[in-house]
Amino acid sequence: MNSKLNALSEKIQHKTAKIAVIGLGYVGLNVSINFASEGFQVFGFDVDEKKIDSLQRGINYIPEEHFISEMLPRVLLNKFLVSTKVDDASAIGDVIIVIVPTANGNTPTMEYLNSALDSIVKNDITGKLIVLESTVKVGTTEEIVVPALEKNGLVAGEDFFVAYSPERIDPGNKERFLRNIPKIVSGINPESAEIAARLYQHIVNEVILVSSTRTAEFVKLMENVQRDVNIALMNLFAMMCEKAHIDIEEAIFAASTKWNFHPYKASCGVGGHCLKKDPLLLANSFDSKEIDLDLIYAARRINDTMPVLTAEKAVSVCREKIGKDVSKTKFGILGLSYKKNSSDTRNAPAIFIIDHLKKLGARHIYVYDPLVKNGIEQAELTEVLNSDIIIMTAAHDCFSGILDHYPGYIVDGTNTLEPSDRVIGIGRNPIIKKEKSESSDDTAFFQKSVNRKCGVAGSRINHS
Ligand SMILES: NC(=O)c1ccc[n+]([C@@H]2O[C@H](COP(=O)([O-])OP(=O)(O)OC[C@H]3O[C@@H](n4cnc5c(N)ncnc54)[C@H](O)[C@@H]3O)[C@@H](O)[C@H]2O)c1
Repeated sequence: MNSKLNALSEKIQHKTAKIAVIGLGYVGLNVSINFASEGFQVFGFDVDEKKIDSLQRGINYIPEEHFISEMLPRVLLNKFLVSTKVDDASAIGDVIIVIVPTANGNTPTMEYLNSALDSIVKNDITGKLIVLESTVKVGTTEEIVVPALEKNGLVAGEDFFVAYSPERIDPGNKERFLRNIPKIVSGINPESAEIAARLYQHIVNEVILVSSTRTAEFVKLMENVQRDVNIALMNLFAMMCEKAHIDIEEAIFAASTKWNFHPYKASCGVGGHCLKKDPLLLANSFDSKEIDLDLIYAARRINDTMPVLTAEKAVSVCREKIGKDVSKTKFGILGLSYKKNSSDTRNAPAIFIIDHLKKLGARHIYVYDPLVKNGIEQAELTEVLNSDIIIMTAAHDCFSGILDHYPGYIVDGTNTLEPSDRVIGIGRNPIIKKEKSESSDDTAFFQKSVNRKCGVAGSRINHS
């Protein structure tokens, strides 16, 4: 065994390896706290002074991640130290994990990764392991990370080790968290992959080793693109359902009784840091002259249209049902984050809906999301409940029952409420039960179907 590998391996096994994490956002803070909780000495670095200041005061800025809130006070100063001096990361850490953003808004960018790599090569990295966790274009580890790290004449894979391990966490998800999500791990050579696998075995139950960093980069993008395309297809079905007077939820329920149908939800759009840029990262990895990439772009277009359609839906309710001028109508927005039970507002459909409402002439918009505390101006809940129309954009648990006695119109961008004359979903239509004609046979089957609300989404008639 390479003596450098042996030495690092021993340190990792005995948890004496120092871990430096560059980028303490949704992913980096999670990874840091998990290693610190396992007894490793972790040094977290971020260029954002506010984040470092908050952590130094023991405040978790990702409140939906309860494990972080619970563990931060226990590991802070003892096993977890934080700093803005990113150039120190590779001087301190035996392992340096890079988890910086790879997009500005929707646009992929390498600027944060390049800056992190510049910091790393300011120190001697002999015998160290550098792991990239950010989601990147296929080939980035071999073509960008390795050359940048070899700048001072050291040879990657011999003098130091390089691995790529994409992150799959879903912040706010109470059932799936870092430990119980299988972790894809790869290295630029078998030694790098092996040492990275040994490292992650301390914080996850299962490591999935793949044969190359390109494979691992592709796997991460493939997962998110599949999701984006499937959601787009469901949104397309929802638009069709609206035209054809069909309820999308009833259709999904019925189609799901076939073993190979995969249910996804139509909604007012997708958001977050990943789903909007990862399809572009994948498409940018290939030459569109050689492979037809239109499916990826079409899915992006459909999902990006949904907030616009949702805003237009609210405006048509205002004109056709309330009969009020858009500029005089009060619009309430319930939910600001891009998904249920999250505080993350990056690329959130709510933000695009608000922008589009303004373009359509809305002047009175009241926004409420108790989970979001990032400085976006918000109204009181009572102001939202006094609106003429409420657009629900996130089905947080804390919103449960909140609209039960609301008398106005609701545009349900989450498709979690039953549609009615007052509740307009995405591709949803109230199911009109057809009366049975008097002449038809009153068989047990039909009696049963009436009793069980045949045709109502979620119902199923079993032949007994
Ligand atoms: N958020 C998720 O749920 C999620 C899930 C899986 C993968 N990812 C991927 O992980 C990566 C990071 O995502 P995130 O959501 O944690 O982003 P984030 O914006 O929450 O955090 C990134 C952090 O890196 C910091 N940073 C930027 N440049 C830096 C530098 N040169 N040195 C030190 N710190 C620097 C930023 O200040 C920020 O705090 C992205 O590639 C993303 O696609 C995210």
